Amino acid sequence: MQPDQILKEIAQQVSECKRCQLHYSRKKAVPGEGPAQAEIMMIGEGPGFYENEQGRPFVGAAGKFLDELLEKCGIARKDVFITNVVKCRPPGNRDPQPEELEACNAYLERQIEAISPKVIVTLGRFSMAKFLPGVKISEVHGQSFWRNGRLIVPMFHPAAALHQPSLKASVERDFARLSEYVQAARQRMQAAEKPIAVEEKTGETPAKDQPTQLSLF
Ligand code: URA
Ligand code: SF4
Repeated sequence: MQPDQILKEIAQQVSECKRCQLHYSRKKAVPGEGPAQAEIMMIGEGPGFYENEQGRPFVGAAGKFLDELLEKCGIARKDVFITNVVKCRPPGNRDPQPEELEACNAYLERQIEAISPKVIVTLGRFSMAKFLPGVKISEVHGQSFWRNGRLIVPMFHPAAALHQPSLKASVERDFARLSEYVQAARQRMQAAEKPIAVEEKTGETPAKDQPTQLSLF
């Protein structure tokens, strides 16, 4: 199956999913949206009020702010695949619970596999914890980490940043580096495809799964 068909199939399954208790209170499930060939995937926490009404991710206040952040850094929202760790709204926007995250994880895994993004931006601590367990967002936000052949970039959640001036400044600075990260991920992936002889000459080890942090580009 082609990636865009896989994404459609996942969206269909999510829309009728009853794997966790969040299905009782949801109005519309929010599978996520964006192109199957997106280089960047952004993963938030879960649908809020407006997302639950419309079945689309990041369409409320946090979404408006995300749109602004993307526009400022020159990345078009239509080129990004945007989704959440849980696809149905937690009542009253409470935190998603471990069993809900666990139940919904397979959908996210399949989306990642279908899209195979170069860069995954985690928005908030729940999606960050999936890729970078045990780290503190205050210590790692805006940095990049290679995991399973992709660049993971943890960011503060736009909803949190919206009302806290210091976080807002941080998230704006972090987003400003996003294009640089995409460029670095492209280069690194190209290098990883080159023959071993070239790797030896440059002294680079573009191992796909190298779990090291890239601090400089
Ligand atoms: N907050 C999220 O984490 N996700 C959304 O889709 C909207 C708000
Ligand atoms: Fe299914 Fe995920 Fe919705 Fe739970 S949150 S009902 S696992 S789609």
